[in-house]
Amino acid sequence: MSQPLPPLRWTRLYSVGHPALDAQHRRLFVLINDLVGLQQADATAQRQAVIDTLPRLGKYAERHFKAEELLMARAGADHLDAHREKHRALLAQVQQLQGEIDAGKQPPFHELLLFLRYWLAEHILVTDKRYAPAMATLLMAGELSEAAAEQAAEAELW
Ligand SMILES: [Fe+2]
Repeated sequence: MSQPLPPLRWTRLYSVGHPALDAQHRRLFVLINDLVGLQQADATAQRQAVIDTLPRLGKYAERHFKAEELLMARAGADHLDAHREKHRALLAQVQQLQGEIDAGKQPPFHELLLFLRYWLAEHILVTDKRYAPAMATLLMAGELSEAAAEQAAEAELW
């Protein structure tokens, strides 16, 4: 039997510079870790967990990708179209997997975990990280304009 995989641990290395997107990524980690935690379970429990978790993962990822693309557009991040395309490809992979599972052809549990871990970690570390500077600029602009608004409100009081 293959070595059990450790759970995915979110560290600052995965931060993309926006708290809401980091929180959504952490949620995706949790969903995948729900499955990682079942490596010692019997095959029936594993199969059922995959049937339960995969659609949730797909739906959550879809919503997260939309939110991410929206913020990327607001931040004026480069390569938005290429990034969107990667999201589409990731969702298509999950959909294909879903189709196989629906047809009773579930891949070995360990392989599925390797796929999902790579699917998420690689996307964040390689693709998402590219928009981090743009996101930081967006956040800073937001903070500055908030501060400016406060200053203006204070100035009015005097
Ligand atoms: Fe992304």
